[in-house]
Amino acid sequence: MTKNVLVLSGPNLAALGSREPEIYGSVTLADMMGQLSLVAADLGLSVDARQTNDESELVGWLHEAANAGLDVVLNPAAFTHYSYAVRDACAHLVGMGSSLIEVHLSNPAARETFRHTSVVSGVATGTIAGFGARSYELALQALVSREP
Ligand code: DQA
Repeated sequence: MTKNVLVLSGPNLAALGSREPEIYGSVTLADMMGQLSLVAADLGLSVDARQTNDESELVGWLHEAANAGLDVVLNPAAFTHYSYAVRDACAHLVGMGSSLIEVHLSNPAARETFRHTSVVSGVATGTIAGFGARSYELALQALVSREP
C-alpha cells in the first residue's frame, strides 16, 4: 500500500528559482516537488506537497497530519528560527506517533548567526540540511528506512 507523506514548505519558498539563487539554486519549488514525487514513487510513497507563507495555515496542516497519523517532511524556512507555535505543533505531531523530518536546502549552521538556532530541531525526529533539493529526497529515504 502506498503511504502518503505531507511535504510542507514555509514562507518565501514559493519564490525558489528567483530567490537568492546563489544560496537556494535556480530550481522552482514546483519543479522540485515534481521531481520529489518521482523519487517518492520509487520509494513506495506518495507526497502531498504544500507551501504557505502563513504560520496559522502551517500549524493547521501539522494538526491535520497528527490527526491523520501522517509522517511529515517540513522545511519551516524562517519559522525555524523563532516560531514556538510551529515547534509546539511539531511536538504534538511527534507525540501522536508521526515522524517529522526537518529539512533545509541550505545549511543554516554555516550562515548568519540568527539561523543557527532551530526551535524545531529539538522536537523533530531528525534534521537534514545543506543538500539543496536532495535534502527533501534524503528525508523521504530516512522515513522509509525508519519503517519496521
Ligand atoms: C531555509 C533556511 C532558513 O534559514 C531560511 O529562512 C529559509 C530557507 C533553507 O531551506 O535553507 O527560508 O529553511
